[in-house]
Amino acid sequence: MTDNQSTKKRVFSGIQPSGNLTIGNYLGAIKNWVAEQHNYDNIFCVVDLHALTVPQDPQVLFQKTREVALLYLACGIDLEHCAIFVQSDITAHSELTWLLNTVTPVGWLERMTQYKDKSAKQESIGTGLLDYPVLMAADIILYDTHYVPVGEDQKQHLELTRDIVLRFNSLYGDTFVLPEVLIPKAGARVKGLDDPTAKMSKSSDKQGHALHLLDPPKVLRKSIMRATTDSENRIAFDPEKQAGVTNLLTIYQAITNMSEEAVLNEFDGEGYGTLKKRVAEAVIETLEPIQKRYHEMAADPAYIEQILKEGADRIRPLAEHRLYVAQKNMGIRK
Ligand code: TRP
Repeated sequence: MTDNQSTKKRVFSGIQPSGNLTIGNYLGAIKNWVAEQHNYDNIFCVVDLHALTVPQDPQVLFQKTREVALLYLACGIDLEHCAIFVQSDITAHSELTWLLNTVTPVGWLERMTQYKDKSAKQESIGTGLLDYPVLMAADIILYDTHYVPVGEDQKQHLELTRDIVLRFNSLYGDTFVLPEVLIPKAGARVKGLDDPTAKMSKSSDKQGHALHLLDPPKVLRKSIMRATTDSENRIAFDPEKQAGVTNLLTIYQAITNMSEEAVLNEFDGEGYGTLKKRVAEAVIETLEPIQKRYHEMAADPAYIEQILKEGADRIRPLAEHRLYVAQKNMGIRK
């Protein structure tokens, strides 16, 4: 964040350190962050407090938080244009969440589809799971964010963030910037290889479901070769009838930056075996340099600690200022 960047619009986004980042996180989010990073003043967060809304092993959570941050860097996030930090390192996120809770009706939260899905799978539902989108709103508005690049599945949370901002500003006066969602033009929505009707999940440990950014080439190839397809024997983008083939084509298209048409041309007359082999080659070729950079940086654990400390130190004043203005407007600060 150099001086000439202060005129650029602010972008904020984050990923939960709950599992192993997948090619879906890369092609759907990080790759676009990297491609667009020069155009904005960016903040990318590892949202460890969000991960705590479902049970986590403490040691694993700590380690995965560092891993996600290192993967941001390994994928090409440039600290010239971006700050990266861990959510819990800036306590203003938790503090602002409380203030926002007081203006957020429970009904708004109960309507969130992600909450409905996640709570349906649990016997006892933590308050944190319900409150998840309020913490997300705090993340975003603490930094006067203009744009939030997220996948389709987070659009509803962004709308809720906007509702909270409008309500807060109308109750207490102009306090927060109204953020906008930024759905990336080329953001691929990658599905599970074993079940191409559902989003590829980083928290599933089923073999053959996901392609993890740190999977060895052998594992990547095996998962792709075993991916669910169909018996149509036709290479086409048809998410309804050929979800598996479409998913492989989508991965290929996003990785190679080719048009749909060019991809179809390339595979004209080919069988599923060839499609899978080429997808595997493309995935491995893309991930190898990322893995190499990751392992180089991970060799020195002090390195990422330093980066994360600097990231938090750099942006903490922004968050503390916005929190203070909110507190003052609410009557709890002078
Ligand atoms: N809820 C987001 C997800 O699961 C993660 C997230 C938390 C986030 N805080 C955010 C994304 C702020 C963008 C901005 O994908």
